[in-house]
Amino acid sequence: MLNIIVCKNYEEMSEAAARSVLESIRETPDGLLSFPGGDTPLGMVRAFVRDVNAGKADISKLHYVSLDEWVGLASDVVGSCGKFNHDNLFAPLKYSFADKFVINGAAADIEAERRALNAFIEKYGPLTVSVLGIGMNGHLGFNESGVDFDLDAHIIPLDEVTKGVMQKYFDVERHPTQGITQGIRQIMAAKKVILLANGAHKADIVARAAKGAVTNEVPASVLQKHPNSYLIVDEAAASKL
Ligand code: PGA
Repeated sequence: MLNIIVCKNYEEMSEAAARSVLESIRETPDGLLSFPGGDTPLGMVRAFVRDVNAGKADISKLHYVSLDEWVGLASDVVGSCGKFNHDNLFAPLKYSFADKFVINGAAADIEAERRALNAFIEKYGPLTVSVLGIGMNGHLGFNESGVDFDLDAHIIPLDEVTKGVMQKYFDVERHPTQGITQGIRQIMAAKKVILLANGAHKADIVARAAKGAVTNEVPASVLQKHPNSYLIVDEAAASKL
């Protein structure tokens, strides 16, 4: 069941999500954590870092895996999920995870990278908590509209909707055509899933994901079937629920 938590604004959404993540890792301190990159989760990641640095949770036995990456982009490129992870999570944290895997979108052998992502999740998983954003087309990670819900990590053509919004993350013009992502099967195996959304522009897709039919046309709708999933949204994104 998708539990819905409506927060007043972005800051409250971020704080509520960080609190929920901390609860999960206190319960399972040697588990596996996954965060997305991007504008939506930034406040949550900052709150998480602040609280871990303040000693509110111990991450020394915890493992970390990134959710997705643009194929072709190295982890030091502006707009890559790898750089987001480095700049906003690993660098400001005073403590280190026991082990981490950040997808290298520029791997010479992207198929080997995909296998390595699966192997890491297999080794330390299932995910203790998977935090996700929702794309304007309902994607989770790069599980785009029409994705096979049974897939583990895979490489997938980017949806036109994703291509339309992606340029905001890059400092120079870039045109990735594929993504590498954790699969819906791995996300659905997580003990807890937290889906974040903020802003009026997400209201329609949030309503379709939370209240519409469960369909791979709106991949986030699959979370209605997860036993312990939470949609944490601000009032603007909740306005059509
Ligand atoms: P956004 O992306 O944070 O840029 O809204 C969310 C997503 O595409 O998953």
